[in-house]
Amino acid sequence: MTNTVDAKHNLHSGIFHPVLRQWQSPNVEITVNNLMYPIFILDNQDATEAIASMPGVFRYGINHLRKLLQPLVSKGLQSILLFGVSKHLKKDDIGSNADSIENPIIQAVPLIRQWFPDLLIACDVCLCPYTIHGHCGILYEDGSINNKASIERISEVALAYAKVGAQIVAPSDMMDGRIGAIKKKLIETGLVNKVAVLSYAVKFASGFYGPFRDASQSAPKFGDRKCYQLPPGSNGLAARAAARDVSEGADMLMVKPGLAYLDIVRHTKDAHPEYPMFVYQVSGEYAMLYHGAQNGAINLKNVLNEVLLSMRRAGADCIITYFAPLILDMLQPKSKC
Ligand code: PBG
Repeated sequence: MTNTVDAKHNLHSGIFHPVLRQWQSPNVEITVNNLMYPIFILDNQDATEAIASMPGVFRYGINHLRKLLQPLVSKGLQSILLFGVSKHLKKDDIGSNADSIENPIIQAVPLIRQWFPDLLIACDVCLCPYTIHGHCGILYEDGSINNKASIERISEVALAYAKVGAQIVAPSDMMDGRIGAIKKKLIETGLVNKVAVLSYAVKFASGFYGPFRDASQSAPKFGDRKCYQLPPGSNGLAARAAARDVSEGADMLMVKPGLAYLDIVRHTKDAHPEYPMFVYQVSGEYAMLYHGAQNGAINLKNVLNEVLLSMRRAGADCIITYFAPLILDMLQPKSKC
């Protein structure tokens, strides 16, 4: 016998048909249930603005949201993540406009709830779009973080979003103790059973956020975020950050960015299997795929599908992605005619 394989070394027999191929990857499907769509909401109700650093992504005034969301909800979109963008609202040291009545999130959430009662709304909670210095917390005069004041303010903002109807609050500021502070306020106000806390638990200080800071007009005016975001090489801090947020009462965990940190996703999921695991495919990841495809280096849909599968394989239950509209199209059943 030459050039033959014995039965157990033959892999081809398991993958010659699409249904067989699917059976070989039973837990790494992409469905509408695995997607969350981030949306930038402007403080100018009638405007729509293209974001130069993220071609194909826009900032929307409130009056455009219904038109944007209708077709996506019809295609199965289940959840969104809202970011406020403050272009006209005054910025100050404590981010007063993060929860003022003029804030675009405060205004948009009740409307979206009314228009799309089944759509799950998460709100990013951070001060950086509303502070004059562009940092995620409140600073002492010397520019260092005032942790106590920061988590008090962040929990106030989270509570305000919860009160107008957000079903998930997602603090992305990385201040120590914020999850506990938010949970405490939700308990005190009786909202704790109506609002889940999605912690950006494992957030690295990453170059992949570049385009986002343009999108949300939230770049720090001095310094960087290294004192509150994790060093990219650190497994240990990542594990400790997730464990800490679990102990403070987080309902769901996130690793961010995605592609360069899939080992961390796997570790986090393995360490906390009872918590839904989110992965944020961030702005720089979006831009890389977009430009790669534009320049003919890759086929966008094929590579996107591969990347999403890799995130699911690493343990992600939900992927936050600017590609959600395209993915929803990719998931529509193919017409038979
Ligand atoms: C702000 C925040 C950032 C992102 C989400 N929330 C930027 C940062 O921390 O610098 C990044 C998202 C993206 O790049 O798509 N706290």
